[in-house]
Amino acid sequence: MQRTEFPPGPRQPALANALRLWRDPVRFLLGLHRRYGDMFTVNFPSFPRLVYVAEPELVKQVFSGDPGRFHAGEANATVLEPALGPNSVLILDEREHMRQRKLLLPPFHGESIRAYGDLIREIADRDIETWPVGSPFALRPHTQRMTLDVILRAVFGVRDAKRIALARRLVDEFGRRSHAVILFPYLRRRLGPLSPMARFERARDALDRLIYEEIAKRRAEDPDVERSDVLSLMLRATHEDGSPMSDQELRDELVTVIGAGHETTATALAWAVERLLRNPGVLERLRTELADGDEEYLDAVIKETLRVRPVITDVARKLTAPAEIGGYTLPAGTFVLPAIIAVHHREDLYPRPFEFRPERFLEGQGEGYAWIPFGGGVRRCLGASFAQYEMRIVLRAIVERAQLRAADQASEALRPRNITLAPSRGTRVILERAVLPRVEPARATAVGAAS
Ligand code: HEM
Repeated sequence: MQRTEFPPGPRQPALANALRLWRDPVRFLLGLHRRYGDMFTVNFPSFPRLVYVAEPELVKQVFSGDPGRFHAGEANATVLEPALGPNSVLILDEREHMRQRKLLLPPFHGESIRAYGDLIREIADRDIETWPVGSPFALRPHTQRMTLDVILRAVFGVRDAKRIALARRLVDEFGRRSHAVILFPYLRRRLGPLSPMARFERARDALDRLIYEEIAKRRAEDPDVERSDVLSLMLRATHEDGSPMSDQELRDELVTVIGAGHETTATALAWAVERLLRNPGVLERLRTELADGDEEYLDAVIKETLRVRPVITDVARKLTAPAEIGGYTLPAGTFVLPAIIAVHHREDLYPRPFEFRPERFLEGQGEGYAWIPFGGGVRRCLGASFAQYEMRIVLRAIVERAQLRAADQASEALRPRNITLAPSRGTRVILERAVLPRVEPARATAVGAAS
């Protein structure tokens, strides 16, 4: 029987829900799932009602629902538009969304990403060589620097060291200044030069200037010089009507890739190491299998990391018309959210769900809509293959070159950090011993001129 009311949920004030989510999102969402079942409703300040779904069949209905009825772009725009701009693939819907997505998919898929393997390894090796031996340090800033450098060099194709240093500074500042205006929409007003919005706009404009300069430089280059960075591929791509991407479109997609691509992957890498150091048996097996040249277990480690610490806890779709889900008819305007973290902790899908056990992925767990760290349907993360490829290379480099131990015994808690859930102490580690660089024939040092 169809029910027209909303699924059950907590009755406390919206602000109390927001505070509980902020303080401990995992405990809050898993607690609601346990108490109210596979669909539950939560109110938050300045949002319409949010309905979470936490069961693979229901998740499938949302992800494979008509994109004209389930608007991801509109839902994302409520928080991301000021930073990403109106052409970003993340905030568009329907035809406009597919138009941008088609242009962006090829550079992030299949053979295209293999061109970046040596570059990623080189960036990881160089960073590992800066780690101090014997004193505790947080690993996350290092993985963040690696993933940002990968984007600047593989995606933007920046080669000059000074430009890379400048870009790092501008992206860091942009990330810091975006945080407040993304989280608190009521701060999006200019209230004098020191207000959060004014600071955010200055940081955004500075980064934009650099991006537009890079685009102009690239447009002015000899077209016969073949380059394989993503910006060059995007410059060559055309819409269905044959028109190229405009500078504004390119800017919005490049900022989207920075925003969606580097902090997420950096956090996932930090979690992988945090979990491995708390599970020495898993680390030992990984080391052995890598030494034997087998990457199947490495893949399982990455999947298990993204299951138990999914980085992004949920994704949203805004209903443009009523939709029937799980026996409820939800009205237009409702936000429906597949609760990634709750699906990943279901006992029926993952026995002993809190344990870190990569073997489960070798045994066939995590099929279909049971494993959704990258969302799904026509909105599935565009960088999913790229991120997993990058994680494989960086983790291999860390395991091969660094003998690490956790700086503290206790596991790190999950804490909100911009759009991700990150380790509370930034994955604090001690490097006991650094393994000397591999002796290898000269590797390519930059993505750019094709060999
Ligand atoms: C471990 C790393 C990453 C995680 C966990 C992650 C997760 C996600 C999630 C959950 C979504 C939303 C999907 C949905 O609404 O169904 C998404 C979208 C997206 N991601 Fe990622 N992501 C990661 C890395 C990357 C990277 C490296 C890039 C680019 C190089 C990237 C680019 C994007 C883009 C462009 C979208 C928007 C897709 C669309 O709306 O059509 N992500 N990602």
